Amino acid sequence: MSNQPNLSCSNPVPRHAGAGVQSDLIPGHVAIIMDGNGRWAERQGLPRKAGHRRGVSNIRRIVELLAQRGVRVVTLYAFSTENWSRPTDEVDSLMAILAEEIGPQTRELHRAGVKLVHLGDMTPLDPALQEAIRQAQDTTRYNVGVTVNVAFNYGGRDEILQAVRRMIADGIVPEAVDESLFSRYLYTDGCPDPDLIIRTGGEQRLSNFLIWQAAYSEYYHTPVLWPDLDAEDLDRALGAYGQRQRRFGSLDVQDDPSGE
Ligand code: IPE
Ligand code: IPE
Ligand code: MG
Repeated sequence: MSNQPNLSCSNPVPRHAGAGVQSDLIPGHVAIIMDGNGRWAERQGLPRKAGHRRGVSNIRRIVELLAQRGVRVVTLYAFSTENWSRPTDEVDSLMAILAEEIGPQTRELHRAGVKLVHLGDMTPLDPALQEAIRQAQDTTRYNVGVTVNVAFNYGGRDEILQAVRRMIADGIVPEAVDESLFSRYLYTDGCPDPDLIIRTGGEQRLSNFLIWQAAYSEYYHTPVLWPDLDAEDLDRALGAYGQRQRRFGSLDVQDDPSGE
């Protein structure tokens, strides 16, 4: 919208399901709540930050697998607006890990044709980190492979509030406000809603993730901790999705009525 760069995540990429996978059963957009890094580290007798590092190293493997299976958009929940309430040393190490990893990870993902998009509020981040995020987006903006949205300092309620503020600042009249216009003011402008939300680490909640966009998403949770999530776990999640009947409030099984 007006004061936000156009980082639309919908690329005109045909779905290409892998051998033996029926393309109509593959979710176009998979969002992942990457939870369980701390417990992974604690179980190995390591500091929590070691779990976060291990978590980052699992991103590329999972993105590649999802791409191979025909998924076009992947959204990863990496740091919530509530995660600032963790002890300072944990927050500092999460910021340091992002600062260190963003360059190398972007290079690898760029080589794989991935388009990177940040979701969330960048303003409280260190200016050098903000610049690195902008660079990652600029470098990959014309890639037509999978789009990977990284939700970092993202909160669903914060997203809705910033949308309302910008709509008021733009002088939008009440009669003009509908779901389509509102969606265009969200960080996910241009993105289809997630078809499938996977949460690792066993919790069964959204934790302020995509609360508008998840209205009709299918939900899957697994006790597997994020650093351990592998191809088999992922295929179990995709298989479960393939069994779901999506009705969107109607009595018939449907494709997403929004046409995404
Ligand atoms: C998810 O792992 C990563 C972030 C929230 C930044 P956690 O750090 O929440 O790991 P657990 O849930 O404590 O195991
Ligand atoms: C959700 O995990 C946020 C991310 C994975 C980035 P949390 O560990 O912060 O969620 P809660 O506190 O268990 O709800
Ligand atoms: Mg957690």
